Amino acid sequence: MNAPPSLVCRELRLRQFRNFAELDLLFPRPGAAVIGPNGSGKTNLIEALYYLEIFRSFRGAADDQLVRFEGEAFHIRGRFEDPATGREVEVTAAYEKRRRKKVVTVDGAEPERLGDALGRIGVVVFSPSDVAIVAGAPGERRRFLDIVLSLNARGYLGALQRYRHTLRQRNALLRAGAPAAQIDAWTASLVDSGAVIMAERARWVAEHRAAFASRYERIGGEVAARLDYRPSVSGTESPESDFAGALQAELDRLAGRERERGLTLAGPHRDDLGFLRGGEEEGRDLRDFGSGGQQRTAAVSLRLVEAETIRAARGRAPLILLDDIFAELDPGRSRRLLELLEEEPGQAILTAPKASDLEVRHGALPRWRIASGQIVAAA
Ligand SMILES: Nc1ncnc2c1ncn2[C@@H]1O[C@H](COP(=O)(O)OP(=O)(O)O)[C@@H](O)[C@H]1O
Ligand SMILES: [Mg+2]
Repeated sequence: MNAPPSLVCRELRLRQFRNFAELDLLFPRPGAAVIGPNGSGKTNLIEALYYLEIFRSFRGAADDQLVRFEGEAFHIRGRFEDPATGREVEVTAAYEKRRRKKVVTVDGAEPERLGDALGRIGVVVFSPSDVAIVAGAPGERRRFLDIVLSLNARGYLGALQRYRHTLRQRNALLRAGAPAAQIDAWTASLVDSGAVIMAERARWVAEHRAAFASRYERIGGEVAARLDYRPSVSGTESPESDFAGALQAELDRLAGRERERGLTLAGPHRDDLGFLRGGEEEGRDLRDFGSGGQQRTAAVSLRLVEAETIRAARGRAPLILLDDIFAELDPGRSRRLLELLEEEPGQAILTAPKASDLEVRHGALPRWRIASGQIVAAA
C-alpha cells in the first residue's frame, strides 16, 4: 500500500532525561544511526522519542525512573515535519517528580485529556525486548494489543479506561462480599466496555493474520506462522461474534465461583494472543516450542504488522525506531528484515553497539557516536 511518508523528527531536545543532562539534536530527514557501547544511552534515546507518541516509557518504566538521577524533572521536546507539505508539529512532555505532575503539549497547547495527544507522530519501535510479547506472560500480549488499538482504533481507549475502572470497582465489591445486586450494577458496564475491547481485538487479528503470516515467512525463511486471538470467553474468536451476549452468559455461569474467589473471572483482562507454528509442527505454540530465533521473528513480524496498522489507520507511514535489533537476529533473518525495512518509506532512527550492524537504508544513514549521554556526528 502506498501511504505518504512518515513525519520526520527534525529536532529533539532533552533535559534531565535518564542519562542525558542536556541534549540538543538536529536530525536529517532520512534519520540517523547512533552507535555506542552498552550503557551509553541508546535505548534511553529511543525511549525519549517514543515517549512523545504514548507519553510513557515503552520499556514500562515509571516516570520517576526517567528523571535523571539527582534531577527534579525531565523535559522532552520534539519537532516533527511532514516532508510532503513542510507543515510542522511540536510535541513536548515534562514530568516533575516531587508533584508527580506530567504536562504534555501539542503545538504549544495542552490537550484537554492526555488521550487526545496520543499517537500524534505515528511511530513504531523495534526492540530486543519485543520477544517478551511472544515468549512472555499473557499480560505482555494484552499490553501490545492495548497500545496498538488505543492508538489506531477509534473508541478503544475510552472503552479500555471504562473497563479498567469498572473491573476495579467490581473486584472490590466481590472481595468485600457485597450483595449480588451491587455487583450486577457494575456488570452491565463491564459487559458493554468489555465487548468493545473484545470486538476490536478480534477484528484486528482477523484483518492482520495474513500479513503476519507473510512477514514471518519472509523474514524467517521458513513456513508461515499463525496469529490467533484467544479470548477468555470461548466462542468469541471471530469478529462476527456476539461479544456482549457471550461475556454476559459467561459471567452468569461463573457468578458462584466469582463470589468464592472474590474476583472477576472472565473478560478481556484475561485474553491472550496465540503464535502458532505452521508446516510440520502445525499448531505448536511458538511460546513453548519456538526457538529464540523463531520467537524473535514473530516479534519483528508483529511490529511490521503494527506499522501497517498505522499506515491504514492514519494514512501515512510510521517513523521507524530500531533499537539494537540486528545483534539478536542471525545474518539471514537480519538481511531479510532489512529488505522489508527498505520498503518502509519513512524516517529511520536506529541504534547499534558497532557500525558493522548498520546496513539499514543500505548503510547510508548518517552515523553518530553516543557515549555517556553525549552524541556527536561520527567522523
Ligand atoms: N534516571 C536515570 N538517570 C541517570 N542515568 C540513568 C537513569 N536511568 C538509566 N540511566 C543510565 O542509563 C544507562 C543505560 O542506558 P541505555 O540507554 O539503556 O543503554 P544502551 O546504550 O545500552 O541502550 C545506564 O548507565 C544507567 O545507569
Ligand atoms: Mg539498549
